[in-house]
Amino acid sequence: MIENHKNFIFYCSPAGTTRHAAGVIADRLRAADSEVTLCEVGKNEKQLSQVLQEVAEADAKVCLYLGSPVYSSHALPLMMALIERLPVKSRAYAVPFATWGGATSGLALEEMGAALTAKGYGVLAAAKVLAVHSLMWQLDNPVGFGHPDAADDRLLEALVEAVEKNLSLPEPLLLHSAALEYQPRVMAEDMRKLNLRIAGKILPQREINQDKCTQCGQCAEQCPVAALTLNPWPSFAENCILCFNCMRLCPEEAIAADLSAIYARIRERAQAAREGEPSQIYLP
Ligand SMILES: Cc1cc2nc3c(=O)[nH]c(=O)nc-3n(C[C@H](O)[C@H](O)[C@H](O)COP(=O)(O)O)c2cc1C
Repeated sequence: MIENHKNFIFYCSPAGTTRHAAGVIADRLRAADSEVTLCEVGKNEKQLSQVLQEVAEADAKVCLYLGSPVYSSHALPLMMALIERLPVKSRAYAVPFATWGGATSGLALEEMGAALTAKGYGVLAAAKVLAVHSLMWQLDNPVGFGHPDAADDRLLEALVEAVEKNLSLPEPLLLHSAALEYQPRVMAEDMRKLNLRIAGKILPQREINQDKCTQCGQCAEQCPVAALTLNPWPSFAENCILCFNCMRLCPEEAIAADLSAIYARIRERAQAAREGEPSQIYLP
């Protein structure tokens, strides 16, 4: 008899692509009658704590899918912080997945994989999925245009199928960490020096137009990490991840920044990126 296991999908998704990927994974798990709980990270601490408690208390094997967009060559800090918080348990497995905007998928999978392993979670597989670059929403031809597409979704379904099969083994096969260390080492060292704080110095400042702002609160509501408050105008806390949702979703266009200089930089990096397949699954 095949022993049951419980699946959990944790993700953060400012612009919706990682949420889409999480949804594809959840649908495939449900189609296989495999139990799954989805949890968006960053918004609702109470719900997150409850789901982490469920992970801790699960008697059966657990398999955690962890999804992050790639920001400045890394997984989002709040996803790395989540890995730190995971309960230590036996028979715990994980599958990191990342969506990236065609510039570089960076070290997101490598770092998530290493952190999960350090926490005692057996890494069974991983995936990267190409997506529209979320800083280019204003353009007709963004890097990553048209992605994720149906073929990307099928790849994620194949990932789930392989993981489910692997989990039915008494001792599931683990992915070797070297599989996720695919960036040339010299580039990887440069990427290690990057972070969101440095990106914040390169990205343009957002200006609040007080004549246009109606203080409707949409920006605060749509902030994926609860880093925006109205006091009385929109202001950003330290934990802002620079997703620009506030600007993209403001109904009054009261938050503005000139991103044009960033576009050239992203295209340059996209040209230089030599990553093999833009969307790929990694299996043992
Ligand atoms: C501040 C910021 C930094 C980003 N850095 C990278 C990067 O280093 N490499 C890359 O390919 N895409 C980068 N992206 C694009 C996102 O990784 C990509 O669009 C992702 O699919 C967005 O996921 P989401 O739709 O779930 O938010 C960045 C986007 C933002 C807003």
